[in-house]
Amino acid sequence: MTTEWKQNNLLVSTDQRRMDVNAIHAFLTRAYWCEGIPFEVVERAVHHSLCFGLFDGNAQVGLARVVTDYTTFAYLCDVYVLESHRGKGLGRRLVQCVMESSQLQGLRRFNLSTQDAHSLYAEFGFKPLKHPESQMERHKPDIYKSAASGEQSAGPGKS
Ligand SMILES: CC(C)(COP(=O)(O)OP(=O)(O)OC[C@H]1O[C@@H](n2cnc3c(N)ncnc32)[C@H](O)[C@@H]1OP(=O)(O)O)[C@@H](O)C(=O)NCCC(=O)NCCS
Repeated sequence: MTTEWKQNNLLVSTDQRRMDVNAIHAFLTRAYWCEGIPFEVVERAVHHSLCFGLFDGNAQVGLARVVTDYTTFAYLCDVYVLESHRGKGLGRRLVQCVMESSQLQGLRRFNLSTQDAHSLYAEFGFKPLKHPESQMERHKPDIYKSAASGEQSAGPGKS
């Protein structure tokens, strides 16, 4: 099942075969939230996610990636539009396509994390956590930087 939105030369598509992992990796490896992410990690993540690619002709110029069970829960991440295409409503369009997708209806919880784009997501009903004290996380923000510098990751029970 694929979701598609077309306008002139622009296309948002969930067709997995269209995703250009080279282009996605080229952006993500310099993104503030996953700087240095290896190509193979992006490749696996894209393969195992519901991806909404933004295309200008054949060139991939944006992405929104959803990690989900398609039933109860989804996590929206890796949302970007290339600098050359920003400020034209395409980021909003990507998020709109995600929210309208027939594969993502009826979820109990839809989460995301953002440093500064809260107002974009607020348009689609996202709010700050109501009970942050009840949420927990295991977060390793520097995991790709430490992997690149050859550090070992901590095993279970160590931090
Ligand atoms: C965020 C991003 C996807 C927006 O894409 P875009 O195509 O330029 O956005 P749009 O033209 O659809 O506009 C989005 C709206 O969200 C608002 N917005 C809120 N936070 C924003 C932010 N951090 N960056 C850009 N726009 C933001 C804009 O002001 C705009 O509202 P307006 O039309 O009322 O001015 C793009 O700037 C980007 O790729 N940034 C770098 C990656 C990033 O930070 N991703 C978000 C991770 S959560």
